Amino acid sequence: MVVKLPLYFFIAICIFIAAAAAAPFGVSTMSFEEGYSPLFGDGNLVRSPDDRSVRLLLDQYSGSGFISSDLYWHGFFSAAIQLPSNYTAGIVVAFYASNGDVFEKTHDELDFEFLGNVKGKPWRMQTNVYGNGSTNRGREERYLLPFDPTKETHRYSILWTDETIIFYIDETPIREVRRRVGGDYPMKPMSLYATIWDASNWATSGGKYKVDYRYSPFVSRFSDLVLLGCRSDPIQLPENEQCDDAMAELISSGIDTITSERRQAMLRFRQKYMTYSVCYDTMRYPEGLPDCDIVLSEKIKFRDNGHLRITNTRRRYRRRSRIPVTGGYRRQIDT
Ligand SMILES: *[C@@H]1O[C@H](CO)[C@@H](O)[C@H](O)[C@H]1NC(C)=O
Ligand SMILES: *[C@@H]1O[C@H](CO)[C@@H](O)[C@H](O)[C@H]1NC(C)=O
Repeated sequence: MVVKLPLYFFIAICIFIAAAAAAPFGVSTMSFEEGYSPLFGDGNLVRSPDDRSVRLLLDQYSGSGFISSDLYWHGFFSAAIQLPSNYTAGIVVAFYASNGDVFEKTHDELDFEFLGNVKGKPWRMQTNVYGNGSTNRGREERYLLPFDPTKETHRYSILWTDETIIFYIDETPIREVRRRVGGDYPMKPMSLYATIWDASNWATSGGKYKVDYRYSPFVSRFSDLVLLGCRSDPIQLPENEQCDDAMAELISSGIDTITSERRQAMLRFRQKYMTYSVCYDTMRYPEGLPDCDIVLSEKIKFRDNGHLRITNTRRRYRRRSRIPVTGGYRRQIDT
C-alpha cells in the first residue's frame, strides 16, 4: 500500500496532463470539416480518416495550406502542431489569422511562424502583429522553444478580443499585446490559416540556407483544432448579441485573463527563450511602439537592435581587463 500510493498519484497526474492536453482551457475541438477548407496544394494536404488531424506537406512541387471556412470577429484559435524534422532550413510553417484576402491595403494579421533550421540546430518561432495595413511596422518577437517541436506536439493559440491579444504555447501565455491608441490593433474580422511553404529567400540566416528537397516531403501535422469565436461577415460586423454565446464560452474558460501565476510563467518563458523583441529594438523604432510594455528585467538582456546579448564569460573578462586597473587588489579579482 505504501509502495502503491505514489504510483496511483503518478497515474492520476498522467491522466490530468492527458486531459489538459486534449482540451485546453476546457474548450471543445472540432473536425477539419467543421471549421476549415483546403487552401492550396490539395495533394499535399492529407486528412486523417477521422478528420480530426491534417498533415500539410511540402515537396519540390508544392507547399500546402488550409483556411477557416468563416471569418471571425474576435476569438480563441488554436491547433496542436508537430513540425517536420531533419534538415528543415528554408521552411516556414505558419498558423495565423489574417484578412489580407479581403482588405488588400488595410489588412490585419496575427502570426505564429515556425522557421526551420539546418541539421542539428533548433526550429525558431516568431510571433507578429499587424493592424490596418501596418506592413511597414513589423512587430516581431523570436523565441527558441523549451522542447523539440519535431518530436512533441504542442498547442499554439491566439486569443484576440477587443482589448488584448495573447499568444499561448499550451497554457502558458508567451506574449501579450494590448490595444493602445496608435497601436495598429486588428479591428476587422479575420480568417485562420495554416500553411507550409518554401521561404528559401529569408527563413534561415536571411536566406543563406535553402530548402534541400533531398529530405522531402517535409511533413507538419495539425490536430485538436479550436475555432472559438464570433463568425462574421467580412464587412458588416455582427451585432453584439450574435457574438454573446461564443464570447461567453470564451470568457467562462478564463482564456482571456492572465492570472498572476500565468503572468509569472510568461515572464519566465520570455526570460529564458526570447531571442529578439521589437520592443527593445530602438535602432528600428527609436520612439518605441505604443503597445510595448517595457519590462526592465527583460530589457537589460537585449541590445539596442532588439537581439539577445551574447553573454560570453570569456569576452566579458577580456573587455573588463581593458579597463585600466589601479591597484593589485582589483587586478587579482579581474583575472
Ligand atoms: C485604417 O487605414 C485607413 C487607410 O490608411 C484609414 O483611412 C483608416 O482610418 C484606418 N482605420 C483605423 C481604424 O485606424
Ligand atoms: C532524415 O533524412 C535521412 C536522409 O533522407 C533519412 O534517412 C532519415 O530517415 C530521416 N530521419 C527522419 C527522422 O526523418
